[in-house]
Amino acid sequence: MTQMYTRKYVYDAAQRILHWWLALSTLGLMTSGFLASKMDPGSDQAFVWTLHMTVGKILVVGVVGRILWGIIGPRHARFSAFIHIKSWIESLKSKKMLSADGAFGHHPQASLSYLGFYGLIVFMCGSGFSLAAILHGEGPLAEVLLDEFKYLKIINQTHEYGFWAIVFFIVTHVGALVFHEWHDKIPIAQSIISGFQYRTHKQIKGKKNDDQR
Ligand code: HEM
Ligand code: HEM
Repeated sequence: MTQMYTRKYVYDAAQRILHWWLALSTLGLMTSGFLASKMDPGSDQAFVWTLHMTVGKILVVGVVGRILWGIIGPRHARFSAFIHIKSWIESLKSKKMLSADGAFGHHPQASLSYLGFYGLIVFMCGSGFSLAAILHGEGPLAEVLLDEFKYLKIINQTHEYGFWAIVFFIVTHVGALVFHEWHDKIPIAQSIISGFQYRTHKQIKGKKNDDQR
């Protein structure tokens, strides 16, 4: 039987560009940080660390942009659209985290993971620039933290835990997208490229409007 869809333009251009800005700079930081930490000390390693700190600055621009857009952007880009307390409690009670949602906009459970990711990435910027200051005398915190070696171990360790938490986020994020594409037969992944979301007629039946969750 042919599946009938309704589509709606949900993610504006700035939100989509910022998604790829953050995704690519995060991947760049994960690769450079992981590689450099496995290299022997020397000029090659120093080059990769310099690259890591440069991509770190690019990430900060994206994070600041996303925070601003989360405050002043259109409805589906705003952080207020990420908060679905009722739905989170319901899925906690029913233990159904991956149920399909008929409303347009971010999936309620995915929204919670995005808020977590943004918190994590802000933490990575803070810890990253602290390390840059202490170990390399670089960046905006260099003047303040240059001699703070007593904090080095804990900052380095939490920065590394942050790396593994991001690995976990990406695996579950991409895994959930693949799962929903296959299970619910909806073209989800393309929405962050085209801006259009699709819902089956069966999904939106009974929803008065796309705000209703
Ligand atoms: C690899 C690093 C990636 C990271 C760090 C990442 C991060 C994020 C974040 C933070 C959001 C929320 C966007 C917002 O603020 O509005 C998001 C949404 C989204 N991402 Fe990614 N992403 C990554 C890769 C991908 C890939 C490879 C795809 C596949 C095309 C993808 C597809 C999507 C889609 C479709 C949404 C919207 C989903 C929804 O409606 O809930 N992402 N991603
Ligand atoms: C998504 C964000 C980030 C990821 C995934 C990431 C990843 C990593 C990893 C895996 C390490 C090696 C940890 C170890 O095993 O010792 C590292 C170290 C480091 N990161 Fe990041 N990082 C991120 C953001 C940043 C930012 C924004 C900066 C700021 C410039 C930064 C600066 C540094 C510095 C200075 C070090 C230590 C360098 C050294 O040991 O000489 N990182 N990072």
